[in-house]
Amino acid sequence: MHEDNAVAARRLFAALGKLSLGFYPTPFHKLERISEEYGVNLYIKREDFSGTTLFGGNKIRKLEYLLKEARDTGCDTVFTYGATQSNHAMETATAARRCGMKPVLFLGAIVEPKAGDVRANLLLDAILGAEIHILPSLGRSTKDTMAANKELFAARIAELAAQGHKVYDIPIGGSTARGAVGFAEAYVEIMEQARAMGIRPDYLCTTTGSGGTLAGLAAGRALLKDTTTKLRGYQVGKKDPATYGQGIVRLADSVLELLGSETRLAEGAFSITPDYVGPGYEKPYKEANDDIRYLARTEGIFTDPVYSGKAFHGMMSEIRNGTIPKGSTVVFLHTGGATALFSEADIIGDLGELR
Ligand SMILES: Cc1ncc(COP(=O)(O)O)c(C=O)c1O
Repeated sequence: MHEDNAVAARRLFAALGKLSLGFYPTPFHKLERISEEYGVNLYIKREDFSGTTLFGGNKIRKLEYLLKEARDTGCDTVFTYGATQSNHAMETATAARRCGMKPVLFLGAIVEPKAGDVRANLLLDAILGAEIHILPSLGRSTKDTMAANKELFAARIAELAAQGHKVYDIPIGGSTARGAVGFAEAYVEIMEQARAMGIRPDYLCTTTGSGGTLAGLAAGRALLKDTTTKLRGYQVGKKDPATYGQGIVRLADSVLELLGSETRLAEGAFSITPDYVGPGYEKPYKEANDDIRYLARTEGIFTDPVYSGKAFHGMMSEIRNGTIPKGSTVVFLHTGGATALFSEADIIGDLGELR
């Protein structure tokens, strides 16, 4: 990493401006035991420690940029969307409350919550006093559920406007160009931490859902003119990797454009794989759960069965099968989400078995 590129990138982030809603830089450390077992140098970037609650995660960086715009445009209410156990929705609700704004959540029930047994993120949403609308998913993806309910959102915005409120509307995952800037900044932060530790990552591996995290990282990589580090995204939903990948390229380019950079993504700036999704979004499977147990039992770190656990399993599978060669320096970006461990049995699968 050339220091000049990092300084120039930091200038662009500062010019856009953000609120301070997390504890940054997040920790970065080596996983000594797994590194030794597999003959790699494996590091972990702890976005699960983003704060400012115990239940932080990757959305806080996006919200720092998004809610700055909400505040600057005089909004007092924040809408967002996700599944009933959405980390993004919960993190948005905490961040909105910190900014004195009211969170309104539209949640698609992929897993139907049980009355009288509200768990995990939905429980936190309730404690935060978010206005919660649960929408039947009818077997559709969260995106399709939301597309089918657009009129409901517009009607609620109009009602609130009539009462003198102004709504800031955040799409699923906070994955707009402005939100994804947070992960361009995270990329610079990771490379600065790596440099301070005297390492050069060969791989940076993470979960990819709505794509903003990966797009932001790819934009950060472009800003640093980094051609050393291979950026690898593990899908958590069954999307066509080609069209999904093109969307991430477009989003990364719009991050660069928003920042006022002339740079655009080079060919092969990142790769994604659908191979570790398993049966689908919010659907656990044994091999991924085995690696959730493995990480906990070797390093004392929790990942979740919907996002970070599947990505960790994907990365470990590629270390085991040599796709990521021995001797590589690998960074796993832990995006948070461990609240899912306290959610419905449909989501955690066999993790609760006493063995
Ligand atoms: C814990 C966790 N990890 C990863 C992701 C995926 O991030 P992105 O939507 O930016 O791809 C999410 C998104 O909700 C998440 O909650």
